[in-house]
Amino acid sequence: MNARTTSTTPSTRIRRRATVLRRTATALVASAAAVSLASCGVSDIGDSAEASPTKGDDITVGVLFPDKDTKRYEQFDYPNIKKKIAELTDNKGVTKYANADKDAETQNSQIDQMVADKVDIIILDAVDSKAVAPAVQKADDAGIPVIAYDRLAEGPIDGYVSFDNELVGQVQGRALVEDLGDSAANKIVMMNGSPSDPNAALFKDGALSELQDKVTISESFDTKDWDPKVAKVNMEQVVAKLGADNIDAVYAANDGIAGAVIDVLKTAGVAKVPPVTGQDADLDAVQRILSGDQYMTVYKSFPTQASAAAEMAVAKVQGRSIEFEALARDSIDSPTTKNIPAQLVPPVALTKNNIQDTVIADEIYTVKQICTAEFKSDCDAVNLK
Ligand code: GAL
Repeated sequence: MNARTTSTTPSTRIRRRATVLRRTATALVASAAAVSLASCGVSDIGDSAEASPTKGDDITVGVLFPDKDTKRYEQFDYPNIKKKIAELTDNKGVTKYANADKDAETQNSQIDQMVADKVDIIILDAVDSKAVAPAVQKADDAGIPVIAYDRLAEGPIDGYVSFDNELVGQVQGRALVEDLGDSAANKIVMMNGSPSDPNAALFKDGALSELQDKVTISESFDTKDWDPKVAKVNMEQVVAKLGADNIDAVYAANDGIAGAVIDVLKTAGVAKVPPVTGQDADLDAVQRILSGDQYMTVYKSFPTQASAAAEMAVAKVQGRSIEFEALARDSIDSPTTKNIPAQLVPPVALTKNNIQDTVIADEIYTVKQICTAEFKSDCDAVNLK
């Protein structure tokens, strides 16, 4: 396994190193980089010396996702991971897929099954970053590396591929301040993500770093398992307490929550839906942005993230060093494991003005999919044809 250090006394929260190590070395200069990194005291360089016995292209990759409410996972993430693994292994590499449908115990059993099936590596998007640690340990004990996908997980994780999640929150928070202006009179409701997801804490921290002292946070809720039905109930409580017309904006941590919030506000009869943020560039969110119901979402290139995870997984199983192949330019600490090699992809704020340059350009959606009859005039208004 790589030179990560795993402690049994979890620290309080996930930390990224103060100085994120940026390894710009490539495979061609690996030896030189090894000397330079070693000379600067970096001991956790690549793991090629300790890699499990290398394999060829005939590999099996376990892929586990946390829920079926979030559209991105089965619409984009898993298909792109599967496709990239086939490309990287001359169509010999295969995947085993499982979705935990919001249940942490189910996900642990799914990991146990992958271990029993002797997969070569696991790509894991955890329902609950803490509850999954024992199953990650079992995989590690069986010599099966685990790559944390999108959400960092606890236990002996070998790699991490995600986005700069604190920046995601900053982008969301900054969008609201730019739209509302800097005034404490502005009352914001926060509908955060799931407490079991470490990303949710990072999104919230990032958003608050932009919102703090610039607006008034009237109410703040977490959304268990990112379930839009939970967000609906929470938002109904807020409307009953504050009155729909006393809400100047809603920070919604992702598009599933945003959709629930906007439905509640429209049912309550607001004259105009106040600015509502989101994340994931769900198709219905892009359409709401065109119609003016949703203010923005955060576009995260799922194909880029999926490719990075597939490349890291194949390299690891084949005994190559993910650091020196520039597949892990950063490193990050979890509450239980330090120096996890990481690859973070930058996010982009998506508004009605850059739909063409983001989800259309990246072939996430076609204009035809977005500009249905219901949204044709909204598309024409921004020249989306
Ligand atoms: C987060 C992920 C987001 C969001 C959410 C819902 O961990 O980073 O993209 O969609 O989960 O599952």
